[in-house]
Amino acid sequence: MRRKLVVGNWKMYGNLARNKALLEGVLSGVRELRNADYGVCVPYPYLAQAQSMLQGSNIAWGAQNVSQNEQGAFTGAVAAGMLVDFDCRYVIIGHSERRALFHESNDIAATKFDTAIKAGLTPIFCVGETLAERESGVTEQVVARQLEVILNHVGAQAVAKSVIAYEPVWAIGTGKTATPEQAQAVHAFIRQRVSQLDAVVAQDLRILYGGSMKPGNAAELLAQPDIDGGLIGGASLVAEEFVAICRAAQ
Ligand code: PGA
Repeated sequence: MRRKLVVGNWKMYGNLARNKALLEGVLSGVRELRNADYGVCVPYPYLAQAQSMLQGSNIAWGAQNVSQNEQGAFTGAVAAGMLVDFDCRYVIIGHSERRALFHESNDIAATKFDTAIKAGLTPIFCVGETLAERESGVTEQVVARQLEVILNHVGAQAVAKSVIAYEPVWAIGTGKTATPEQAQAVHAFIRQRVSQLDAVVAQDLRILYGGSMKPGNAAELLAQPDIDGGLIGGASLVAEEFVAICRAAQ
């Protein structure tokens, strides 16, 4: 039985005062919840704040990106070892905003994935098709290509230490959610691809849905057999909404 996982992706939002209020609200709302796992991926400057407010709680924390390099002259980049220094558990890799806005290729995402695993972090590896790709019927090919880079390069044991997030690009921040059936179909496809590598790893792998998951649609999405949690953008910035999704994952 896979335990559900709900992770907030704050993106580039927040400040010290707002984060404090948000984390206090989330902490008090999920404190009693014991049957699922929770996390928040915050902007780098707030890792220390997340660490000091969340340590000892049932909410883990992490980052939204990491460098593929261990150290060196890479101005503006942040290494996996630095995330480990702040006790991060998670790091989001290959988010569609990184791919589209920062030109991250499948290969770069795969290298980052590998770097994160080697540092002991849990990568949340994002895959998903654009609207044009869905409309032209190539969703599975696109997702397969995005997955293949990690399946082929890092192997089953590394995949076992990761989380996959299916995030249809057309559903991110748009208020348009994939229907539970649409999401389930892609989640089942992802699990089937991973099972070609290793059936046991595929069975235990957590596959999150991301893309306008809200309190109003979370329960229905999370009830699908292959949807093991959510990666939450907008709704993770409002304590009551994030807590409501966390409750739905119970
Ligand atoms: P959204 O973002 O929930 O605001 O659609 C999800 C994500 O980008 O991870």
